[in-house]
Amino acid sequence: MENTAHYSFDAVIDRRGTGSLKWHYDDDTIPLWVADMDFRAAPPILAAMDAIVQRGILGYTLPTEALYAAIMDWHSSRYGLALEHGDILFSPGVVPSLALMLHIFTQAGDAVLVNDPVYTPFMSKVMQNKRTLVLSALVEADGKYRLDLDDMEAKIIKHNIKLYFLCNPQNPGGRVWTADELGAVLDLCKKYDVAIVSDEIHQDLTLRGHTFTPFLTLAQGYEHKVVSLTSMTKTFNIAGIKGSLIFAKDAALIEKIDAQQHLNDEYELNMFAYAAMHSAYRGGGEWLTQLLAYIEDNIEFTLQFLADKLPKIKVMRPEASYLIWLDCSAYSDDDQQLYDALRAAKVELSAGYKYGSEGHSKMRINVACPRMLLEAGLARMVVAFEGLGDG
Ligand SMILES: Cc1ncc(COP(=O)(O)O)c(C=O)c1O
Repeated sequence: MENTAHYSFDAVIDRRGTGSLKWHYDDDTIPLWVADMDFRAAPPILAAMDAIVQRGILGYTLPTEALYAAIMDWHSSRYGLALEHGDILFSPGVVPSLALMLHIFTQAGDAVLVNDPVYTPFMSKVMQNKRTLVLSALVEADGKYRLDLDDMEAKIIKHNIKLYFLCNPQNPGGRVWTADELGAVLDLCKKYDVAIVSDEIHQDLTLRGHTFTPFLTLAQGYEHKVVSLTSMTKTFNIAGIKGSLIFAKDAALIEKIDAQQHLNDEYELNMFAYAAMHSAYRGGGEWLTQLLAYIEDNIEFTLQFLADKLPKIKVMRPEASYLIWLDCSAYSDDDQQLYDALRAAKVELSAGYKYGSEGHSKMRINVACPRMLLEAGLARMVVAFEGLGDG
């Protein structure tokens, strides 16, 4: 049941000493890095977790029809993505699913195309699984990234690419690819028989003025080569619960993925993940609306702050999510120096070079935290950049 409660995102909750990946310090460093928000999870999700604990039964659990219905309703009502029960598989995470897809669409040694910059596991999973990584740089124009379709085509031909990993919305650049852009990608991949795996984990964090298009809504006639991956964990800040979804609209493809998952018995989630997913998709909509308003405010605040205090940083305004891509090259072209200067000022951002060679001299900031923390973190950035001299 949806509700009209007012949610507050201002509370600062001490996460140190809890095993939090983000808050791994024993001092008062402010973490503005990994994509994990410092907000309490949505009350409907917490209530669902609580109900399980109160009941005290933690036995083997299957996904219910009610859960499938919640997944289908969320995606059809928000994005016009019509899913059937048979189009849906569960997976412990989107990154595990990316690795799985390498085994669905490629053999060892095959070439996989990925844009640069991109979320690091897109590259590392390809290499760790002994596929050949081929990068196509995104091109910056008018303050946002574009796909370089000519470059992608040349590389598809040259390397005999079998699979393209698409990130939509894009991390770290924040683009929500338009239906036209995605249509062009589809045409290109069709032309050379390249499979497409679309990581859509940031879909629900699309910001005002932009429209998220699930790749599967465009893939008619090419469904045997398209898979999308998504999750409730990023949207609702429950990454520690682990759980994600695999969608495909071709029965033979779904059967192949299902069989591959069964090889290692990795096709099911734990009962808390099923319950979290169900309660999120049924009861989390209002929390998400209010969360996005808070994030939009934090983004505006950050852009204004940086324009005033660190005007040499070139900022890429995100179209989705709470991650902002910062070109810090005016302050230093030494990646380690940038990162270290921030750490010395007791604020941590994600080092851009980890997202590919396009990330050189860039940093990614996560602004999904209570405003008070964000203000303090930004103030420390000023100290760090002043220390670099050219600020
Ligand atoms: C684009 C993208 N894909 C996947 C993930 C992580 O997914 P999971 O935790 O389900 O493996 C992230 C986390 O930041 C991400 O940004």
